[in-house]
Amino acid sequence: MAGLTGASVLELARGSSVLGANDARPNPEPSSPHTGMSHEGMGVVGATVPDDRYDPRVFLTHFDYGRLESLPGGGTRRSWEIVAIDREIEIAPGVFFPAWTYNGQVPGPTLRCTEGDLLRVDFINAGSHPHTIHFHGQHPPEMDGFEPIVRPGERFVYEFEAKPFGMHLYHCHTPPLKRHLHKGLYGVFIVDPPEGRPPANEMVMVMNAFDTNFDGENEVYAVNTVAFCYNHIPIDIPVRQPCRVYVANFTEFDLINSFHLHAAMFRVLRTGTTLESGELTDTLMMCQGERHILEFELEHPGLHMFHAHQSEFAELGWMGFFRGLERMA
Ligand code: CU
Ligand code: CU
Repeated sequence: MAGLTGASVLELARGSSVLGANDARPNPEPSSPHTGMSHEGMGVVGATVPDDRYDPRVFLTHFDYGRLESLPGGGTRRSWEIVAIDREIEIAPGVFFPAWTYNGQVPGPTLRCTEGDLLRVDFINAGSHPHTIHFHGQHPPEMDGFEPIVRPGERFVYEFEAKPFGMHLYHCHTPPLKRHLHKGLYGVFIVDPPEGRPPANEMVMVMNAFDTNFDGENEVYAVNTVAFCYNHIPIDIPVRQPCRVYVANFTEFDLINSFHLHAAMFRVLRTGTTLESGELTDTLMMCQGERHILEFELEHPGLHMFHAHQSEFAELGWMGFFRGLERMA
C-alpha cells in the first residue's frame, strides 16, 4: 500500500521560532506531491478539517466528568449518555473512513471519575449494527458489556462502582470483535485515586489505525485518529513542568504498537494502577488493550518528536511533536 507522502516534517515545522541558526533547514520548496518521493521527512499534503464533533487538538486535553449528583447516603453518582452512531470521519487529508462511533467521535469521549463513584452510562444504539460497551476494571459481570448485545434502536444502562483507580478503557464487545473495535468503538476511561494525582499538564493519546480498503491490514496510523495531526500542529508544553500522558493502544490487526519519545525520558505507571513509577525509559511496547500513564518533564525548549518505534507506523501517520516552550503564550 502506498504511503502518505509529501511535505517534509521540517517544512511543516518551519516558521516556528524554535529552529536556531545551526539547525537543519528545510529545502525551501516542499517536495513535489507528484513524485511522492520525499527523502527529507514524512507527512501529508494539506490538513484535515476539524469537524463539529471531533478535533484531535481538543480531544487531547478534554476530559468528560459526566453529570454529577450527590447520593442521599453520601457519595457521588456520575452519569453519561453514550450514543453509537455510524459516521464518516476524515483520518488524513482527503481520506475518509466509514466509522462506527461513540457520540460521533473516534476515540469516544474520555470518561473520567474518582474511585468509589457510582457510574451510570446510558447507552443508546443509534447505529446500523448491534453494539455494547465493555468497560475494563472491576465490576459485576452483568455490567461488563459482553452481553446483552444492544441492537439498533435499543438501549442499556450500565451501572457500577468505579474501581480500582487506574487508566482503563471501554470498547464495543460485539462479534466479530476485531471489526467492531477497528471501526472506532473505543475510548479511555480514567479512574482517579481518591486523593488525586499531583498537578500536571495532562493529555490523552490513543494509538489507533485504519484499514481503509478492508483487506485486514492498516493503511493509516495515528494517535488520536488523524494521521500526523500533531506534526502539523506540535503540542506546546512548558519546559521543566510535569506532563502526564495517558497512552492507550487500540490498534487492530497489528500485534503491537509502541510509544517512543525523543530527547527526553518518561516514567511509566503501568495501567495507572499505581502512584509510584517503576521504570524510566524512552520507548514502551504495548499490546492492544494495554494502557499506561507516562510522566515526564522536558528539560530543553524545542521540538521533541514522538512516534511509534515501528518505522512503518510512523511513516504512515503515527508521529508528532511536543514543542517545549520557556513561556507559554
Ligand atoms: Cu459494536
Ligand atoms: Cu478490552
